[in-house]
Amino acid sequence: MSAAPKVRWGILGAGGIARTVGADIASSPGSVVAAVASRDAARATFLAGALGADRAYPSYEALVGDPDVDVVYVATTHAQHRDAALLALRAGKPVLVEKPLGINAREGREIRDAAKAGGLLCLEGMWLRLNPTAQALWACVADGEIGKVLAVRADLSHRFDYDPLHRLFDRAVGGGALLDLGVYVAAFALPLIGRPAAVHAIGSMAPTGVDASVVMKWTAATGQIATLTCSSVSEGGAGATVIGTRGWIEVAGPLFRTEAMTVCTADGCRTETRRLPEVNGYGIEVAEVERLLAAGSTDSPAMPLADSLAVLEVLDEARQQLGVRYRADEED
Ligand SMILES: NC(=O)c1ccc[n+]([C@@H]2O[C@H](COP(=O)([O-])OP(=O)(O)OC[C@H]3O[C@@H](n4cnc5c(N)ncnc54)[C@H](OP(=O)(O)O)[C@@H]3O)[C@@H](O)[C@H]2O)c1
Repeated sequence: MSAAPKVRWGILGAGGIARTVGADIASSPGSVVAAVASRDAARATFLAGALGADRAYPSYEALVGDPDVDVVYVATTHAQHRDAALLALRAGKPVLVEKPLGINAREGREIRDAAKAGGLLCLEGMWLRLNPTAQALWACVADGEIGKVLAVRADLSHRFDYDPLHRLFDRAVGGGALLDLGVYVAAFALPLIGRPAAVHAIGSMAPTGVDASVVMKWTAATGQIATLTCSSVSEGGAGATVIGTRGWIEVAGPLFRTEAMTVCTADGCRTETRRLPEVNGYGIEVAEVERLLAAGSTDSPAMPLADSLAVLEVLDEARQQLGVRYRADEED
């Protein structure tokens, strides 16, 4: 029996994450990086060479027109996700879009609608939702081991050196802690307490006017609460705790690539470890895309588009309370 053909990936944007995830695509037995596009031809050629791709394009338009690309990975800055994803979807290509799906919920809905119109797979690169430890945690909670969930605490903070042109601080490309780091804690809490009935956000701003540190309090209609923190200017432990009526679960940080959790009940505590795959851990995301394409699925059960949109709606609300607006918000 002949092996299934490899999934041929095209990458839009040749920055940091393109190289990191690209290495995991290239090392997957079921995938190959076929092409890389960058606004800068030399950057495209360099990354294509590093990832073993035989085509490098000096524009995103050229890549999405390549008939020998099966799926497009959008690896651009936040404010450019929408245009890049729409470009690919309208060219008939399924997409894996880096987190967050769009800069706001309206952009997320535009991307979802284009995917739906084309009958194409669209997945946000929220790899935490595919993480084996996080999946074991949600299963443990669903099994009732810690009773009914009362509260969730989660942090994803990491100190970046302040530079007004760094994408974490540059408003023009969708900078801000919430969109970069808060998106993870929101995607983590959502399956545990559902969509919040109320969101309260406080925070401090970077000199560029984007959020640098944020505390979000979510309250569910059933009374469950989540305290979610993120910061691009400090370290905060980056772990999580899920508190239930009969026990609790501690998730080892950094949350976005956790590999261990400790479950504690009246019977004692046990620690479970699940390693992420080599090379950089993003193989779980690559495998999910391979699986969904093979099955002809357009939405991932682990990270459905409805959840990507729910997260964006909550982040929109939090940003509104903080007074952080992007150019795309003016179109709303
Ligand atoms: N999943 C994860 O663990 C993880 C980790 C880090 C980042 N990310 C996500 O990955 C995405 C990119 O982050 P990164 O760290 O790779 O950023 P980066 O190194 O700054 O690269 C971003 C790329 O975006 C492209 N781009 C398109 N339009 C742009 C514009 N107007 N200004 C600046 N860049 C533009 C550029 O590609 P060309 O110029 O080459 O076309 C640039 O290289 C973000 O969505 C981020 O949230 C995810």
